[in-house]
Amino acid sequence: MKVVMVSSEALPFCKVGGLADVVYSLSKKLVINKINASIILPLYKCIKESQGFKDNARLISTLNIDMAWRKLSCDVYCYEINNVTYYLIGNEYYFSRKDIYGENDDFERFAFFSLASYKVIKEVIKKVDIVHIHDWQGAAVSLLHHHYKDRNDNIRFMLTIHNPAFQGICDRNDLWNYFNLPEYYFDNGLARLDDKVNLLKAAICLSDIVTTVSPTHRDELRRGISSYGLEKILPSKGTDFVGVLNGLDTKEFNPTTDRYIYANYNKDNVNIGKKTNKEKLMEELGLKDPNKPLFCIISRLTHQKGISFIVNNIQKLLKLDLNLVILGKGEKDFENQLSFYCDSKENACCLLKYSNELAHKIYAASDFLLMPSKYEPCGIAQLIALRYGTIPIASKVGGLKDTIVSYNTLNDDIANGLLFNFDDDNFLLNVIFAIDLYSKKRIMSKIIHNAMNSSSSWTKASKEYIRLYRQMIQKNKLSK
Ligand code: GLC
Repeated sequence: MKVVMVSSEALPFCKVGGLADVVYSLSKKLVINKINASIILPLYKCIKESQGFKDNARLISTLNIDMAWRKLSCDVYCYEINNVTYYLIGNEYYFSRKDIYGENDDFERFAFFSLASYKVIKEVIKKVDIVHIHDWQGAAVSLLHHHYKDRNDNIRFMLTIHNPAFQGICDRNDLWNYFNLPEYYFDNGLARLDDKVNLLKAAICLSDIVTTVSPTHRDELRRGISSYGLEKILPSKGTDFVGVLNGLDTKEFNPTTDRYIYANYNKDNVNIGKKTNKEKLMEELGLKDPNKPLFCIISRLTHQKGISFIVNNIQKLLKLDLNLVILGKGEKDFENQLSFYCDSKENACCLLKYSNELAHKIYAASDFLLMPSKYEPCGIAQLIALRYGTIPIASKVGGLKDTIVSYNTLNDDIANGLLFNFDDDNFLLNVIFAIDLYSKKRIMSKIIHNAMNSSSSWTKASKEYIRLYRQMIQKNKLSK
């Protein structure tokens, strides 16, 4: 079986969110299960300039891409890692930018990416069984395939929704302007939602199976919770819309072998292990009192991640008996407010950057992870935290609800965190509750053990994806 992922992010090359981890880990698992897996990814500047790319990538083809009146060129490079082939879509003008997202012409950049990906699938990779699209950036590939396919074409499509807020929206005439497609696809509704062209909607209709990254988020999207209009179309997919809970790369995130942390530890010596990590990190960050619990936030500082909750409560939060470390970048307003309130405090530190190494250190050192997401299709930070014996305190949404068992006095044999209802003032109450819990060493110890025992590897999820791929191929054969 030949599976091609189309994604705007993938490790080990580039990452903004959990999407990069999913595409990487799932492909790796597919190959171990004897599936031919490859990934099509834009050749961003940061990849092109890396030593790994310079040493290992091969230019395998140069394609001409027509985008309406624009005559464009695309260099396709090939790079193999863990037996997964990455096809990197090169175009200086579109992808030699400082950041991956956030440019005024993002729509056009990913339109180019989709046109080029479709050509790579048809002319370079060939004989593909499954195209697995992730989010809106590659969604137009399914529409291009629908428009051009001939009778011998057997490609099946899967779409995975990681973030429903971004859907690839444009005007009716942009179908021609960016994709050389007739406006007919707007008029007949296939690519239309709420009177706009919507690429994600088209991919939902044209995919044999649509997935999202947790069962609870699947239900939320069907019921119109944080679904940004997709509730109008997703219920029509019936059982072809599936929630598959993401896993975690348990090799990369393993406190027993982690090369970034100050002291390695396992379930048996977690107390002393975490204590050492905490003392060293706090000293390095200039935080004074390691006897108080250390809370952390490791997140994009965005609306989705519920950072307004932190900002609105930050002064009250910092008056409590705790330490707080924040790591992440995001919306400028959040960044400014958080650094303003944390600056020169003895118990708080705000690091406005992405750093994989620091993130590992903070997961290992912290007692609690705060994750007040407004919506969270799956979430990866809580999975990492659990593995490092760091107790997640999270809102009761999406994948957080599916991976965290909230503590109450009757369930300390299974509880691994705390969940709160987003709409209440429960956030601060839960933090206060956690500070109290921290002083109850016996219960705390149990919850930490439960957390470290929570299973989250990719084995189960990859088996489910393989089952769904097979089901799609089978259905195709039966319908012939
Ligand atoms: C997005 C979602 C996050 C999910 C990740 C990977 O970033 O916001 O919840 O874990 O995609 O699927």
